[in-house]
Amino acid sequence: MLKKWNAVCSWLLTLLLMGHLLVMSYSMWTGWYAYGLCKMLARGTALAAGAHAALTLAIFFFVNGGTGPGRYGRQNLREMCGGCAMVINGRPGLACGTFIDTGQSSLLVLEPLTKFPVVTDLVVDRSILQEYQREAMMYLGTRATPDQKEYARQYSAAKCLRCGLCLEVCPNYVPSSREFFGASFANSAYLLYSSSEDRKKEIRKQYARHFEAGCSKSLACRDICPAHLPTLSSIAYMNRHSR
Ligand code: SF4
Ligand code: FES
Repeated sequence: MLKKWNAVCSWLLTLLLMGHLLVMSYSMWTGWYAYGLCKMLARGTALAAGAHAALTLAIFFFVNGGTGPGRYGRQNLREMCGGCAMVINGRPGLACGTFIDTGQSSLLVLEPLTKFPVVTDLVVDRSILQEYQREAMMYLGTRATPDQKEYARQYSAAKCLRCGLCLEVCPNYVPSSREFFGASFANSAYLLYSSSEDRKKEIRKQYARHFEAGCSKSLACRDICPAHLPTLSSIAYMNRHSR
């Protein structure tokens, strides 16, 4: 349905654009300056493009909406909830933050993330991200006296959307192995380690087992992360405080 809608809108946009170009060319050729008409057509094209984007998103949310295991019921369309992570024309990303350049191709291919079980259509179950935390017993214990030097990094590491894009692109992440938990886990480990008073040793052990042992530093996770988490810096901190 989305494909069909996209094709119809692309045709309409192309027609409007062609009309605009024709009137402009005719005006220049004949010296007839139909600025008013040109402006109207340009405005029409922009409006149609806006409506196209909005309606495409509306259809997406109709398909992807609802709540349930791993679903994100209230998408905010601001690259802040992680709910719309999917593969767009072969590239994993957030749908609400991806610019669709219809000029390059009239085909828009939307696919669900490949490393998570599909619930329906584009919806995948990402509850494994929470399960990893539970399995590794990642909790704070007694809170340490806050270290002001760490505030900025802790704030950034806490912005994880649990969108799963880092796992999607990680060459070391194999969902069935349940050993390597990926960048989201590493950032949580840093956050808890740097804030905990009495669980540091245990958190460090889990980090070593479920992240350090499996990471080959491709840093694909850092490049794809829509929340720009300081993964490299979190890893460096954990390594500095290793023993
Ligand atoms: S670390 Fe970044 S890419 Fe990975 S789940 Fe968190 S926000 Fe998404
Ligand atoms: S709708 Fe929330 S990140 Fe796209």
